[in-house]
Amino acid sequence: MIALRIFTGFLFFCSAIIAFVLAEANRTVLSWQDALGLILFFMINVVAETKPLKLPSSRSDSKAEITISGLSSYALLALFHPLHAALASAAAVATAQVFIEKKTPLKCVFNTCQSFITVAAASLAFHNITQLQLKSVIPPLVVGLACAITVYFIINTSLVSVGLALLANSSFFRTWASNFRWELIYIGGTIPLALLLIVAYQYLWIAGPLLFIAPLFLLREAYAQYVRLKTTYTETVRTLIKVIETHDTYTAGHSLRVAEYAKRIAVARKLSVKEVEKIEIAAYLHDLGKVDLAITHLVRKPGRLTAEEKRRVQLHPLVSADLAAQVTFFKGDIEDIIRHHHEHFNGTGYPHKLSGHAIPLGSRIILIADAFDAMTSNRMYRNALDLDNVRSEFIRFSGIQFDPELVPLLLEHCARDAAFVIPQVEIPYEEFLSAQITEPEAQSISA
Ligand SMILES: [Fe+2]
Repeated sequence: MIALRIFTGFLFFCSAIIAFVLAEANRTVLSWQDALGLILFFMINVVAETKPLKLPSSRSDSKAEITISGLSSYALLALFHPLHAALASAAAVATAQVFIEKKTPLKCVFNTCQSFITVAAASLAFHNITQLQLKSVIPPLVVGLACAITVYFIINTSLVSVGLALLANSSFFRTWASNFRWELIYIGGTIPLALLLIVAYQYLWIAGPLLFIAPLFLLREAYAQYVRLKTTYTETVRTLIKVIETHDTYTAGHSLRVAEYAKRIAVARKLSVKEVEKIEIAAYLHDLGKVDLAITHLVRKPGRLTAEEKRRVQLHPLVSADLAAQVTFFKGDIEDIIRHHHEHFNGTGYPHKLSGHAIPLGSRIILIADAFDAMTSNRMYRNALDLDNVRSEFIRFSGIQFDPELVPLLLEHCARDAAFVIPQVEIPYEEFLSAQITEPEAQSISA
């Protein structure tokens, strides 16, 4: 929190310097028509700011939000002097956050300053580029707006990502990628709309933006539908995990730990955010087939299994994959990763005895994560192994059971010390049912 305070102070200082420099450079007097226009855009921004949407994210604790005020901000920065545009935008953010959303003073100052800096920089970019006599077939307005939106996107998402990363004590790049990567498509779609809004204001003055309010909010609704769909899908995953583990409190938390280990290994393997997300979801659901109570009892049974019992246990990856594939989102890659999570690198695993790189990479990662959790957890018939013994086991079975390229990744990059091991917590049945699966909520900073 102290780091965020220092960073917010820095943003405030930068905003003051920019405001001073722009005020010194601005010798034009604001006309009453422009003043009314600014007030109108200010009001649109206040309304839009108070209806933010949570961004879909691969992290369950992400609370980053996006608002449609970006669209009217683009028009604002193109139609008015950078100082006026930045002041109107910052005033709208401050009004919405202080009086309507009642956010903490730190968040209000952070968001107001980042909005001022973003709009001022983007507006300067727009006005400087449109004043250049570019020999381009593309109209200067389009070139200027595209550049301004690029500047806006880079500064806005970077400042918000720094704020979120400081709050959550996480990496800037991962915060950015997990919250904003897909937003590029969204802002690409807003360029034509921003152009129309600018032209409408130029021809119809304040009647132009007013005509735009309805489609603007329709756009917001379309986006809200997408976010709801993504949220439903995340909730489905969480519900399925609870289904797997409610009847076996002894292993409660196993899927969550395996998913976390698998994610860490996938990140260390430098896979894309999308790939990491698929592996994490597959890891959550890898033992879904254990909803069959008979399988769970056999897995926990001490001593050797009969051939028939063994065959029954070995069916669970197939059952898990088939059950997951009932949900369209999990069909395909996630389903395949789940199906092969017990295949061994040398081909002695199950259910299809695949070997080497014929086994999906996600399955090879989950096998390691699953084994790591099994070794570091207390079981009914033995206590958890210490990290030295876990290392020896992985080295012994590298190339036999485990992918020899992934084992060093686990041992050298991930499990370097005991802090990597997620504590095993046995939760009583009733408590588990009412427990929140997600980690504690991170505080939000609106984009
Ligand atoms: Fe399994």
